[in-house]
Amino acid sequence: MSNNLLQGKRGIIFGALDEKSIAWKVAQKCIDQGAKITLTNTPAAIRFGQLKEMAAKVGAEVIPADATNDKDIADLIDKSMEILGGKLDFILHSIGMSINVRKGKSYTETNHNWMQKTFDISAMSFHRIMQCAYNKDAMAEWGSILALSYIAAQRTFSFYGEMAESKALLESFARSFGYHFGVKSKVRVNTISQSPTMTTAGEGIKGFNTFVDFAEQTSPLGNANAEQCADYCVFMFSDLSRMVTMQNLFHDGGYSMTGINPQAILAAED
Ligand SMILES: NC(=O)c1ccc[n+]([C@@H]2O[C@H](COP(=O)([O-])OP(=O)(O)OC[C@H]3O[C@@H](n4cnc5c(N)ncnc54)[C@H](O)[C@@H]3O)[C@@H](O)[C@H]2O)c1
Repeated sequence: MSNNLLQGKRGIIFGALDEKSIAWKVAQKCIDQGAKITLTNTPAAIRFGQLKEMAAKVGAEVIPADATNDKDIADLIDKSMEILGGKLDFILHSIGMSINVRKGKSYTETNHNWMQKTFDISAMSFHRIMQCAYNKDAMAEWGSILALSYIAAQRTFSFYGEMAESKALLESFARSFGYHFGVKSKVRVNTISQSPTMTTAGEGIKGFNTFVDFAEQTSPLGNANAEQCADYCVFMFSDLSRMVTMQNLFHDGGYSMTGINPQAILAAED
């Protein structure tokens, strides 16, 4: 169903890898709602993933960019404005990768070089993208910038490794840059803290399936899925959410505010 909530808006979507990616669901919904977008991912992800085929289906251009590389980001922003025909109304940062988690290193055995790389990919990239867009004056007034986060920024989830600190940093960048972008050009910056969701990144976390079930039972509404996350992103890119900025917005069926759900205890006893 389309209400043309994003009619005439232009945006860049980072992080669609395959059809399960949250970013891909967001891309499809943005187009359904009338937006024009460019899609981006690393050259390797584009080579080995399905982004080119997916983009062809929706008529969007794919521009390779490593989000840890300032030159790639600058080229991406320039090319996107050229292709889309003007300043940007929205950007989605949907990027996350922990080298220690991927290599099975426990939190107490963390390799710090890998940790730095994780912070660079998963959090500093958000600052790099915003800094580039800010200095190029690439965002239209009342534009909206979003990144996807997880509740491990506030509470401990032992399987999440250094991604917890990455998400804390990501959310902090949204607050700090949200101030500067708001003052400069009324651009808003927020993070959405999403339920555990079955995607390539999610499935890379040990014990993830069990945790998805636990969160599903704990949340009064159940887990929010990728499609529902995409709906929320569309709302946040639209003019309906104009005065929301510098926030971390929980999109998790109530999980973050639930102490104990007796249903989850009963299920565990079965
Ligand atoms: N899946 C979940 O349970 C869940 C829950 C909350 C938040 N999130 C967040 O949602 C976002 C999207 O993850 P997803 O679950 O859709 O998984 P995904 O694996 O589909 O997306 C992660 C993306 O990051 C990209 N990426 C990695 N390194 C990059 C780099 N250097 N430059 C540019 N892109 C790079 C990958 O290629 C991939 O497309 C991530 O930030 C993730 O932490 C996911």
